[in-house]
Amino acid sequence: ARLWAVLPAAGVGKRMGSTIPKQYLELAGRTVIEHSLKLFVDHDRISGVVVALGSEDGYWDSTAYAVHPKVRRAAGGAERCHSVLNALLALEGCADDRDWVLVHDAARPCLRIEDLERLIERLLEDSVGGLLGIPVRDTMKRAKEDQRIDATLDRSALWHAFTPQMFRLGLLRTALQDALSANDLVTDDASAIERLGQAPRLIEGHADNIKITRAEDLPLARFYLHQQGRID
Ligand code: CTP
Ligand code: MG
Repeated sequence: ARLWAVLPAAGVGKRMGSTIPKQYLELAGRTVIEHSLKLFVDHDRISGVVVALGSEDGYWDSTAYAVHPKVRRAAGGAERCHSVLNALLALEGCADDRDWVLVHDAARPCLRIEDLERLIERLLEDSVGGLLGIPVRDTMKRAKEDQRIDATLDRSALWHAFTPQMFRLGLLRTALQDALSANDLVTDDASAIERLGQAPRLIEGHADNIKITRAEDLPLARFYLHQQGRID
């Protein structure tokens, strides 16, 4: 089976509070999305990459991957799950339902190649698929509406869900179509698979695989890239 990558990049970055969508902000001399894409485009095991772009996107064409032979574009949608589904549909015709798809947020530029390769290696023989994550470090509380604590959760069972998330193309497409037709706007790919009663596997990655969400995350991402030896 072949491997494909899908990068949802059609968000507007509301929490970032910038006029330019966060995936196009500058990070150490290139855009965030160029950092995120590089690992997948350069990887020999990955046959092709689909980016899901917003309809008003005026930035993609200026990136280094706009005319790359391994990269194609698809139309994004109202929510991340619509964008991912559109990108999967754009693979139809060239990919097989048994092929694997790695879905990775365009807003996660600090993914390590070693984590990507561990995820692939651990899941290629898996029947369901899975995702990168890390166990939570803090004690987790559940609150009621008045912010008073309702319960302390069992931390040992809790993980942060990251990307990439890796599933068979056919299974993920069916799962997302199912979720959307039930009006369940799942916030990650694993959730769609879970709805079908299947249990994706968590593969432990590194905590520096952050999603750029707020303004203070950019200098942090810069620090992580430097620490990883990817920039000076
Ligand atoms: N995304 C997408 N299509 C959408 C919404 C989000 O492709 N309709 C993408 C984003 O571009 C991002 C990833 O999904 O790469 C994760 O989403 P998130 O961090 O929530 O990004 P935004 O939606 O852009 O940010 P915000 O929620 O703060 O508006
Ligand atoms: Mg969002």
